[in-house]
Amino acid sequence: MADDTRTGVAERTPQAYWDTRHADHDDLASGGHIGLDRPGNEIFYAQRLGTLLSLIGDLSSPAAPLFVLDAGCGKGYFARALARCGHRVDAFDISPAAVEHARAEAGGPRYAVAALDEWRSPWPYDIVVCVDVLFHVLDDQAWAAGLRNMASLIRVTGRLIATDIVTDIAADEATAERTTHGARIVHRPIAAYRAELEPLGLRHTLSRPYGFRENRVGFHVFTRIR
Ligand SMILES: C[S@@+](CC[C@H](N)C(=O)[O-])C[C@H]1O[C@@H](n2cnc3c(N)ncnc32)[C@H](O)[C@@H]1O
Repeated sequence: MADDTRTGVAERTPQAYWDTRHADHDDLASGGHIGLDRPGNEIFYAQRLGTLLSLIGDLSSPAAPLFVLDAGCGKGYFARALARCGHRVDAFDISPAAVEHARAEAGGPRYAVAALDEWRSPWPYDIVVCVDVLFHVLDDQAWAAGLRNMASLIRVTGRLIATDIVTDIAADEATAERTTHGARIVHRPIAAYRAELEPLGLRHTLSRPYGFRENRVGFHVFTRIR
């Protein structure tokens, strides 16, 4: 993500910031990397989609689709791709502009405007994906509330696939510090995620770095064991 330190950026509400960003940038740059050109973002998205699909697996079928939630879906790149792969996808984002754009695209997801801690569902999900959202939630209480809400939406043996910085686990446990990057990014260590999720029955099962250029972010998978 680009380091967005323009005057006033930090003061805007998250919804106002993201609405403006989604209105000002194209479908990939606004939710991908605003510092990358179009081909760079195409690669960034396609590479992460491949990794995401390999983490989710291929157990979906038209008769028994996986129920997937894309939390903080932006303009819907991952939600649409997951729906094309046969999954039954719900998707939401805090930005009305992003959701409006997503709805205008063809494809199967059901979209809504909501914050991470607000989304409720009548059914539990097999998979909740949350790509490059949590490290943009600056307030620690809002971050924890969003994480807990997503955990509550996952069935037993289901998985939360969320992204944040990937570090050596042992070092991470030892230092366990949050790090800020510009005005809109707070990276939290895996220990912080585990502290919230383990009491709720979700165990950290693996991490997979994006492996894209200098990007240090990656997917963290948490599996509900009870
Ligand atoms: C970097 S973009 C990623 C979008 C999408 N996941 C993707 O990868 O294309 C971050 C997204 O998180 C959304 N967002 C930020 N804070 C949120 C919150 N508290 N609840 C829901 N969505 C949020 C923003 O509107 C934005 O669309």
